[in-house]
This record gives sequence, structure tokens and C-alpha cells, in this order.
Amino acid sequence: MAKIYVTCRVFADEIDRLREAGHEVIMRSQEGPIGRDDLLGHISDIDALICLLSDIIDAQVITSSPHLRIIANLGVGYDNIDVPTARERGIVVTNTPGALTETTADLTFALLLSAARRIVEGDQYVRDGKFLGWELLQKHLGQDVFGKTLGIVGMGRIGTAVGRRAHFGFGMSVFYRSRHRNIGAEQELGAQYTSFEEILKKSDFICLHTPLTQETHHLFDRNAFRMMKKSAILVNAARGPVVDEEALVWALESGQIAGAGIDVYEHEPKIHPGLLKLKERVVLAPHLGSATVETRRALAKIAVDNVLSVLAGNPPLTPVD
Ligand code: GLV
Repeated sequence: MAKIYVTCRVFADEIDRLREAGHEVIMRSQEGPIGRDDLLGHISDIDALICLLSDIIDAQVITSSPHLRIIANLGVGYDNIDVPTARERGIVVTNTPGALTETTADLTFALLLSAARRIVEGDQYVRDGKFLGWELLQKHLGQDVFGKTLGIVGMGRIGTAVGRRAHFGFGMSVFYRSRHRNIGAEQELGAQYTSFEEILKKSDFICLHTPLTQETHHLFDRNAFRMMKKSAILVNAARGPVVDEEALVWALESGQIAGAGIDVYEHEPKIHPGLLKLKERVVLAPHLGSATVETRRALAKIAVDNVLSVLAGNPPLTPVD
């Protein structure tokens, strides 16, 4: 029998599968992220950890858990885990690739459309009883999306899924920048591989789908915003620190860019107060990328499958690269 700690509430039927396999499971039942002391206090004798992408699993955490065999992250990004330290100690790290691709691409487009067409502002206006009737020059004039230019930074699974929506659904021209060329996306969508600078200069909308690495940290800084069109809208459904949030507030306040749809934050869950003040063409979501019932269920299932496999002495199903 192995001991498994789960740092957050997970669907009961998935937890039951772990118990039915004979394992002891401790699942944290409080809402909100786990505190560091709480985490350290629960992991000294566990064999498997199921955790969130917001749980910091660094060297101290990993070395405090001498029997640990697997860290199963509930999410595709794993920048919260010190993978080299885990690897050195023979601990498997898994994520949930594939499961949330379409769901996150949908959310990206929802943010893009909401910022461009000012849906959230309009909703508030109606609720405040301010809508007095249709006028040609009514408040909340937005900008077209159909036929515009989309720059995608990070053309992996999610970037490509966003590109499909843009190309097939909205007749957009797609440009991209990525670690590797994506010939499939070029053939399927006519997407053009181009320099980061060209993306900044040409795009009406820019969507971020790159992992957070040393290279992508603060990729969007004041210099990047200066190169963007003044009418451009930035959508970030990747990782907060890819954007220098201070610079984003500056760019929006000074009219350097027109708007933003943001799902992730540099110091999540803290949000720059300047960003909270900005309402026109700025839409903020609470890291909802994968937040549908189907997809969150799929994430839990993959994490549990990985844990069951490793604890049974078999290889993990979805180890990180
Ligand atoms: C969500 O942000 C994920 O990485 O799965």
C-alpha cells in the first residue's frame, strides 16, 4: 500500500480509484492554494503527490519527501516543479498534455473576442440600466476580428488549435514564432513562421501560448509593447511572467496598445492594481484556460492513471519531456 497526498479537491470518483487500488489517500479539502508549511508538513512519508500548477514543488519540497516516486501535476505547464532535482532522485514527473488543448484555445478566443467587442463592459452597462437604445455611434464600439492578422507566440498544440479557429472560423492571416517550425500548421493554416519583431509589428491580435522558461520570461516588456500596433490586443492564456505586468499596465495606460485579454498573472493570484483599474478593452479571467467540467475531469483522470501506473511499477503514461 502506498501513501498519496493530493494538494487540492479532486473529483471523488478519481480518488476512489486510488483507494480501490489499495492506496491510502489524503486529500486536502480546503479551498484555495496550499500554504508552504502545510505542504511540507504532509509529504515526509508519501510515495506519490498529486498537485496543482500553482504549488511550488522546489528542491526543498522534493528533498523533504524521501520515498516520493511520482509528482503528478494537474495541468500541462510544469514550471512550478524543479524537474532536474526530481530527475536526479529518480522521481517521475507527469503532466496532462493534450487534454486541455481545445478548451484553452476556446478560452483564448473568448478573451480575444470579449476584449475586441467589449462584451464585459457592455454587460456591466446593461446591468447598470444605462442602455437607452441602439445608436449609430453608441458606446462600446469595438474592432473587427474577421479577416485581421493574428500573431501566435508558441505554436505547439494550443497555439495551433487557436490558429485553426482564427484561420477557418475568422478568416485571419496567421503568423507565428516558436522554438521550432511547425510545418503542419504552415500547411494546414497557411501560417507563416516569422521573427518575433515581425509578429509585434504586423499583428492586430497577439496570443501567447509559450511555456514559461528563462527565454520567455518577460518576453513582453516595454520594448515589445512599443513595437506593437496601437490598435493591437494582447491575449495571454499561457503563463503570467511571460509578460512584464508593470509594462503591460504602462502600455495600456499610455495607449501603446489598445487592449488585453488576460487569464494568467505575473504574481498569481495577485494582480497588478493598475491592471484592475483598467476596464476599457481589458478583460481579466481567473486562470480559466482549462476550466470546463469535461477537461478538469480529464486532467484528474490522467494524473490518477499516472500515479496508478508508477505505483504498480509500470512506466508513467505522460512523463514531462
Ligand atoms: C494551465 O495553465 C496548464 O498549464 O494546464
